Amino acid sequence: MIEYRNLRVALLGAGSVGAQVASLLLSQKDELTARVGAGLELIGIAVRDVDAPRSVELPQHLFTTDAESLILGADIVIELIGGIEPARTLVLQALNSGADVVTANKALLATHGPELFRAAEQVGAQLDYEAAVAAAIPIIRPLHDSLAGDRVDRILGIVNGTTNFILDRMDTHGDTLESALATATELGYAEADPTADIEGYDAAQKAAILASLAFHTTVPIESVYREGITSITKEQVDAARAGGYVIKLLAICERLTDATTGEKGVSARVYPALISREHPLASVHGAHNAVFVQAAAAGDLMFYGAGAGGVQTASAVLGDLVSAARRHVVGGPGVAESTHSKLPVLDVGSVTTRYQISLQVVDQPGVLATIARLLSDGGVSVETVQQSVATAPDETPGHTVAADAPPTATLVIGTHAAPESALAATVKVLAASDVVSSVASILRVEGS
Ligand code: NDP
Ligand code: HSE
Repeated sequence: MIEYRNLRVALLGAGSVGAQVASLLLSQKDELTARVGAGLELIGIAVRDVDAPRSVELPQHLFTTDAESLILGADIVIELIGGIEPARTLVLQALNSGADVVTANKALLATHGPELFRAAEQVGAQLDYEAAVAAAIPIIRPLHDSLAGDRVDRILGIVNGTTNFILDRMDTHGDTLESALATATELGYAEADPTADIEGYDAAQKAAILASLAFHTTVPIESVYREGITSITKEQVDAARAGGYVIKLLAICERLTDATTGEKGVSARVYPALISREHPLASVHGAHNAVFVQAAAAGDLMFYGAGAGGVQTASAVLGDLVSAARRHVVGGPGVAESTHSKLPVLDVGSVTTRYQISLQVVDQPGVLATIARLLSDGGVSVETVQQSVATAPDETPGHTVAADAPPTATLVIGTHAAPESALAATVKVLAASDVVSSVASILRVEGS
């Protein structure tokens, strides 16, 4: 049997994920050596502060603040610093020196992916990133390898653990967004700046990565439509529950044909949406993630598991490490990313979906007919209408209304599928109409 030399592994970062990666790498050394066919030697861990407390006990002599020197001696570099700089410079330095790179850094991949993949291809190195989307869940390798012979048409997923945790706590425990976010941060789910989670940037980065991979097309982060969950209120969560729905932050990537122009392309978008409580995504609780993939030949596939957390994410990182190490043993260049399809990325206006529109309306005869006509004129077809009991002006909670003002009622309108562009234009018309006091909320309905 051929004896291979030890492969030298440099770790950048020892936070929530990095510390767990180091601990597992050290404690499972013999087993990993047997799986790879060569030893994996952790040659050092680059951090900002070598004396900072760590979540697990690690040998102090491995720590350094000199990431650049550490990289120079490595066969494989694991980047778990996060953010753009210095991660980008260090990853490029590693790839240019011929080292393979494993990263969980979705922000970096979504913004500089093409540059990094080009650098890897030029030297025949490999850049692996299973942990960058949905943490522990194997989703990158299935899209990259297992489905390489199929055509992926649609991906619908919960890909941010923090926001799923928050929305779940608001639904099941009545927590406020702020208190649920504090708990998610304590548990190590949230990004260093949790705005990335709650404003949907993290999920948008993951959508860009998934769409690029699934559609063999570079999908820039700027072309991903994004809405976060900060505008979601307790009232909306309660109303969703009462109506048999739950609110989830969804990432949707799909092949699309614009209903008006006939242009074919792809769409990647992130927004909070209503899904039926019967839908499998409704039972994704806590920081778990789930990703549905619809492929032409394979049909519907579902991937489910831990979408955040140090040790869970470390599992995916170590999987990539073993894969990169095996390539070193076997030899040959790393597999390049395929972006040959070059499909146009369509604007969110081309998307067709269903909506739930809540309106405060004047409670008078003929109002419903007027609203139905305005929707129909705008190309938005009504599927369901629910009207709450009318409220007399002086009984409206929190409002001071003239005594002679007409009573108002709440109308909750469920629509059939309509183009986003038609919906947006129609809502403007509704908002300006004499019979509508206010547009209380608009939520998309997905997953049917
Ligand atoms: P943390 O913020 O917990 O850890 C970051 C680590 O990087 C720290 O050890 C820090 O050092 C080190 N670091 C920061 N700046 C530098 C620098 N300039 N030079 C050297 N080291 C530096 O991040 P996480 O572990 O949570 O996340 C790591 C990556 O994994 C990110 O890209 C994140 O998006 C991704 N990810 C995280 C998941 C999670 O559940 N946490 C899940 C999936 C992906 P020090 O400790 O000394 O401050
Ligand atoms: N902050 C991210 C999340 C970590 O909550 O999903 C995993 O990528």
